[in-house]
Amino acid sequence: MGASLPAFVRRPEILWSALAVAIAAAVVTVFLVVPGNSADAQVYRDPEAPIAERVEDLVGRMTIEEKVGQMTQAVVGAVDAYPGDITDLGIGSLLSGGSDALHDTPEAWAEMIDGYQRDALDTRLGIPLVYGIDAVHGNTALPGAVVFPHNIGLGAAHDPELAGRAAAITAEETRVAGVHWNFAPCVCVARDSRWGRTYESYGEDPGLAVEYAPSVVQGYQGDDLTANTSVLATAKHYVGDGGTEYGTSTTEDYLLDQGVVTLTEAELRSIHLAPFRTAVDAGVGSVMVSFSSVDLGYGPLKTHGDEYLISGVLKGELGFDGFVVSDWQGVDQISEDYAESVRTAINAGIDMVMVPFEYRTFISTLLAEVEAGRVSESRIDDAVSRILTQKFALGLFEQPYADTSGAADVGSDEHRAVAREAAAASQVLLRNEDDLLPLAGDESIYVAGSGADSLGRQLGGWSGSWQGSVEAVNEGTSILAGLEQVAPGAAITYSEDASEPIGDADVGIVVVAEDPYAEGLGDAGAGEHDMLVSDEDAAAIEAVCGEIDCVVIVVSGRPIEIEPHLDDVDALVAAWLPGSEGAGVADPLFGETPYDGRLPVSWPRLVDDEPLNVGDDGYDPLYPLGYGLQT
Ligand code: GLC
Repeated sequence: MGASLPAFVRRPEILWSALAVAIAAAVVTVFLVVPGNSADAQVYRDPEAPIAERVEDLVGRMTIEEKVGQMTQAVVGAVDAYPGDITDLGIGSLLSGGSDALHDTPEAWAEMIDGYQRDALDTRLGIPLVYGIDAVHGNTALPGAVVFPHNIGLGAAHDPELAGRAAAITAEETRVAGVHWNFAPCVCVARDSRWGRTYESYGEDPGLAVEYAPSVVQGYQGDDLTANTSVLATAKHYVGDGGTEYGTSTTEDYLLDQGVVTLTEAELRSIHLAPFRTAVDAGVGSVMVSFSSVDLGYGPLKTHGDEYLISGVLKGELGFDGFVVSDWQGVDQISEDYAESVRTAINAGIDMVMVPFEYRTFISTLLAEVEAGRVSESRIDDAVSRILTQKFALGLFEQPYADTSGAADVGSDEHRAVAREAAAASQVLLRNEDDLLPLAGDESIYVAGSGADSLGRQLGGWSGSWQGSVEAVNEGTSILAGLEQVAPGAAITYSEDASEPIGDADVGIVVVAEDPYAEGLGDAGAGEHDMLVSDEDAAAIEAVCGEIDCVVIVVSGRPIEIEPHLDDVDALVAAWLPGSEGAGVADPLFGETPYDGRLPVSWPRLVDDEPLNVGDDGYDPLYPLGYGLQT
């Protein structure tokens, strides 16, 4: 066959190569042109690309429906009723409420969350969901997790570094269960101890929360949010939740919680805004808005709808570049008209709405508001960009599923040792007649009181359930067991109501306690919680302290009215809510560690003396802010 024939006839392999090139070119062209397809979406799927570029690329591909889906957070039980919704609606986040302690092991939690994650990844763009929980003093949704003292005890320890270590352990015991986001720390400043959330605060002095926020945020988030030992943190509740006036709440029977803060703007800034400034500077990835209202002199305004405070101050002045999440149904409280509530909240600067039940209604309502031009697409894009930025930072696009390889460390001896250290450091010695303390540890000791052998009372609220429970869900060591552990040479007799004969006991220990509570249900006077010593505990004090030298230990989320019971009391200790390690309460009692705690809140003579804060006119506490004896 001569040279005159065309080459591809002479060499058919050339024809096939040419054809292959043409087909490849066609395929690439299709991918480059059609938006949202796999080859074209390289940037947002490229882990090497800067997060800002990944966000811009992804937002540019999203429909308005997909964007609104990302702004939606549903509670885990709600979506179970509609299994296809996560995929169909592109829901961006799920949460476990305080009482959704659904599984006993990290593996079971991870299996559940990964199931929802698979649904999220089945969406057109495969955007992973972010899962949140309240691990406010340990991941108490896990029975075996270590439980730290609540914040008021950590504040008494005046040791932000220790609080940071506690947060880091909590982060580890949370992420290992497949949970990415912790609704903590509360950087609230409790100004009236009758508040049912006083124990979630580091104290009445904003300087404490200012000092603790950076260390705790760092503890939760670590240096790399993609790490399996990090969780996204939440500074809450923005702003002034601890400054409400007694009797101003309009929520259920609450008296303080979710009420009205009436201050000048300067006071609001110096007392309640300051901790958010340090939390933002520390890089906190989310901020949760407070249910409360602020009245700066122009009448009360629900903070969930306050554009000046959220967009103007938090995002504008403080430069917060994470995302703002509403509180649980907090948007609903803005107005009787749900559409008005939704557009007011989103236009105020809320980026994600913890709906958390009627998420379908939320989505359709917000879409209608955007369609009507009452919420701008630019506001939607800003909200979605903030949310996606944190999801990329968490590494969820590369590692959407749980890594439970560290599950064996949950509740480990090492973790419990830090909780015991924190419990010991949080003990505040308020009275010590004749240097009764520390005890030698070889005495005959008579132990009584409702808090002595009650893990549930020493854990407090947000422990295995929203309100906590006298019958504890979480594992741990009671104070009585701690006494026996720390002083094996002591002869201990236990009688909760002091009905057993006191005999020849050398010394008595009466542990009085509040029953657990959370939020407004714990507001003093709102129901069963009154900041008073119970009749049973008062009788135990009288029976024991009227007979022998005695120590009274107070297990509570706040100061209680103790003065009327102190006549025969030789030593008095504020133990707060010490967590799962009861030995931490025993350590300073027997001199294993020193007493060095200091009151993070003023201790009133009477409940009715509240609000009571240092600097108040006529300030006359039983024990002042910062008080504590050392041994
Ligand atoms: C609650 C609390 C908030 C918590 C949220 C989710 O009502 O106010 O602190 O993070 O709901 O449980």
